[in-house]
Amino acid sequence: MKKKLLLSPGPTPVPPQALLAMAQPIIHHRTPEYVEIFNEVREKLKYLFQTKNEVLTLSSSGTGAMEGAVTNLLSKGDKALVVIGGKFGERWAEICHSYDIEVVPLEVEWGMGVDPNLIAETLEKDPEIKAVYTTMNETSTGVVYDIENIAKIVQKKENCILVVDAISAIGALPCPTDEWGLDVVVAGSQKALMIPPGLAFACLSDKAWGFVEKSTLPKYYFDFKKERKNLLKGQTAYTPAVSLVVAIKETLTMIHDEGLENIFHRHDRLARATRAAVKAIGLELLAPQSPSNAVTAVKAPEGVDAQEIVKKMKGKYGMIIAGGQAHLKGKIFRIAHLGYADLSDTFSAIACLEMSCKELGLPVTLGAGIRAAEEIFLAD
Ligand SMILES: Cc1ncc(COP(=O)(O)O)c(C=O)c1O
Repeated sequence: MKKKLLLSPGPTPVPPQALLAMAQPIIHHRTPEYVEIFNEVREKLKYLFQTKNEVLTLSSSGTGAMEGAVTNLLSKGDKALVVIGGKFGERWAEICHSYDIEVVPLEVEWGMGVDPNLIAETLEKDPEIKAVYTTMNETSTGVVYDIENIAKIVQKKENCILVVDAISAIGALPCPTDEWGLDVVVAGSQKALMIPPGLAFACLSDKAWGFVEKSTLPKYYFDFKKERKNLLKGQTAYTPAVSLVVAIKETLTMIHDEGLENIFHRHDRLARATRAAVKAIGLELLAPQSPSNAVTAVKAPEGVDAQEIVKKMKGKYGMIIAGGQAHLKGKIFRIAHLGYADLSDTFSAIACLEMSCKELGLPVTLGAGIRAAEEIFLAD
């Protein structure tokens, strides 16, 4: 027998409360019973997003909400600044291209943060830019971007909005939508929200809804105005993923009960312990300057294929971590501490990482990583 532990940055483990809810007989969505559940989800999503605005719930993976955040906000021929420093920044650009939006790329080295001043300069130079599309937590590199300061810049522009992919950030890292003045925040269910993939979310400011009114790009399934109209009745435009809505009611209750500040602190602690352990094992972080508290990206040592570490962790120890994507494949591996994650998960990951590295012939002092993590946990 071998237990498996899911330590990937999405999907993430699902707690028993949500699994049990999904095991219940399905209910019909056009009923008062469903409306009551959905309205509770609606209110708790506002708490999670730290907003007074409605949060749209869509039945799709996170990319659906990203696509909707292009098609509902922009019009043919519009120009958008896209921060591209990883796989998911690239995705914004790909979606924009699909709808003939002119992309002004802001290329960032993979593994580095983005300097908000560069965004300010680009917007100054090109007043026609209608939107800034960025990622908050670039899952492919384990970097967190300075969204708070980017928002301060975009807010000053009356004709420009900030659209944030917080798919792997919301519920793990502070993302106070209203306080920071974020115009659009999109999220997905399979990360810190602790349920399986299949729900996506979008929260829009009044300024962003103004853009929706003027948008002429084609849209059908992901029609934000139609969804908002239905949401106000406790409904969705089309058949929702009922089982996932029932499940997220449970995890949103868990989030509410634990409290956002405690949740951010838990992620921060697990991330710091993981980073300290990785360094004590003798490995290097991909993003030492702006590391994410949701996922830690680690460079494989010279001459070692990172996929070998991923394979060893899974094959021998049942630890499912993620490899690198695109040109980082084989160069890095990623350990998540995201969502339903606690101290025992982090210790398991570190112990198995030490053993895997040792078995691959790396000069590891067994216990060094565990000790480094223990010191973090004891100090805080
Ligand atoms: C930051 C980020 N953006 C976008 C996505 C895409 O979401 P999905 O795979 O749910 O469509 C992911 C998922 O891995 C992500 O981590």
